[in-house]
Amino acid sequence: MATARDEMPGLAWRLRPMTPADLPRIAELERESYAFPWSDQIFADCLRVGYYCVVVETDDGVMGYSVLSMGAGEAHLLNLCIAGSLRRRGIGRELLLAVLGHARDRGIRDAYLEVRRSNRAAIALYQQTGFECVGQRRGYYQAHEGREDALVYRLELGTLG
Ligand SMILES: CC(C)(COP(=O)(O)OP(=O)(O)OC[C@H]1O[C@@H](n2cnc3c(N)ncnc32)[C@H](O)[C@@H]1OP(=O)(O)O)[C@@H](O)C(=O)NCCC(=O)NCCS
Repeated sequence: MATARDEMPGLAWRLRPMTPADLPRIAELERESYAFPWSDQIFADCLRVGYYCVVVETDDGVMGYSVLSMGAGEAHLLNLCIAGSLRRRGIGRELLLAVLGHARDRGIRDAYLEVRRSNRAAIALYQQTGFECVGQRRGYYQAHEGREDALVYRLELGTLG
């Protein structure tokens, strides 16, 4: 019997730099993926200041993206998102490895990220990639009731395969 993964064999996708023309589609993906989505202005600012911003493009258009800042020997993963219809196909992991590899190849030693304590899918992905939890920020995120803690994760990029 075919599994969910078998029903869409060999999905073709590629990474390319994000441009301002992508922002309406990214806004759609943000709204479907996050309870508190980033605004268009935040993405526009990330592009303007030169953060590493990439999109996952398929024949159906943009289906994912990531934003990474780099400076002072550190990278910060600011966003990583895959369209709901394409999750659990390994694309998030490949996207994550691609942006981390970009930073490592530019001499960056450590990558950091914050993630909601309740975000089990993302935490599993980060742990599988080798990130270790190095702290927490209490009440860092907006939540529907009160605030939610962020967990802070770090990865030494030299340990990437
Ligand atoms: C987190 C996210 C990017 C993962 O993307 P994805 O393409 O589905 O991830 P992958 O298929 O590459 O999964 C890689 C690993 O992550 C973990 N994982 C992914 N989704 C999971 C889920 N729903 N539950 C548990 N583990 C999950 C698993 O360890 C998985 O490995 P496996 O498939 O071998 O078990 C995606 O769920 C997403 O866009 N979520 C909404 C936005 C978000 O929360 N981003 C992170 C902000 S910090």
